[in-house]
Amino acid sequence: MNSLAIAEKNLLKNGYLDIDLDPELDLVAEINRLKKEKNAIILAHYYQESEIQDIADFIGDSLGLSQKASTTKADIIVFAGVHFMAETAKMLSPEKKVLLPDLKAGCSLADSCPPHIFRKFKEKYPEHVVVSYINCTAELKTLTDICCTSTNAVQVINSIPKDKEIIFAPDRNLGAYLQKKTGRKMIIWNGTCMVHEIFSHEKIVKLQNRHPEAKFIAHPECEPHLLEVADYIGSTSGLLKYTKENPAEEFIVATEVGIIHQMQKASPHKTFIPAPPNNTCACNECPHMKRNTMEKLYLCMQYEQPEIHLEDWIIEKGVESINRMLAISENAGLKLAD
Ligand code: 13P
Ligand code: SF4
Repeated sequence: MNSLAIAEKNLLKNGYLDIDLDPELDLVAEINRLKKEKNAIILAHYYQESEIQDIADFIGDSLGLSQKASTTKADIIVFAGVHFMAETAKMLSPEKKVLLPDLKAGCSLADSCPPHIFRKFKEKYPEHVVVSYINCTAELKTLTDICCTSTNAVQVINSIPKDKEIIFAPDRNLGAYLQKKTGRKMIIWNGTCMVHEIFSHEKIVKLQNRHPEAKFIAHPECEPHLLEVADYIGSTSGLLKYTKENPAEEFIVATEVGIIHQMQKASPHKTFIPAPPNNTCACNECPHMKRNTMEKLYLCMQYEQPEIHLEDWIIEKGVESINRMLAISENAGLKLAD
């Protein structure tokens, strides 16, 4: 068996094509060549490695990436992000080939809400509207009335008539933030993001003492006690915009560290300090997002594997909840950033 045949055989076990590459290969040139040859677009989330962000055609947050996936003219979407994001792209563009460099790039929030358990839970509240954070599996989206991202979650909740009760899944921190922000009482699923729940309040306070002028900015997936002391709360694109527009020179950033690459590029003279986790590991890096590498990106474009496949019923039912979200975003003027 040649190395491709062996890699294909092991694809599901490994999550990616494990083929040794010539160390001299110019990956940037090769990936750019494959983009042109195959009419492929690389969509990258802000939490990807800097070199992947730099070669991407579009970098964005979860909303921007799904908006782009729904409108691209490319034949192949290469998703430099995690599994639920690539699934969302496939649901929005089912006729296109959607590739994910590593199928094991998952998400602790998506894992926290298995559809078969959620289905039973939802049966107890037949009249409730189900709002799910986009960080959930494609199958969970089939059990959802409206999806949301951290950029449009407030608008999505506000679009629901006041006399309707709401189930919010799967992020309990975003859910608590939305309850506070919209005044709507919701039944909230008990999931968390393994990156955003790890920040240490104590270490952040120490940092603030050393940098008294720094703004403390946080993603709404962070725990409520941190959000209470934040100068600004927003999605990854919201945080990036805030650092561009705010005159402060220093920012303590409570989200995955990958976003700092774009913050630093946009404001080279400013200082960005990653909020520290409550232990000594690099836990403010998402281990799922960081499974993607330039080598895996090249291999998946070269061999057009691993590919995202979804059953037709999942695409047809699940996309309804995403389309409702996109319509609410458009009405609210939440357009795709350049
Ligand atoms: P946004 O991209 O919507 O800010 O979400 C952050 C995140 O954790 C994505 O997995
Ligand atoms: Fe999921 Fe958190 Fe990683 Fe985003 S950062 S993909 S929410 S585990």
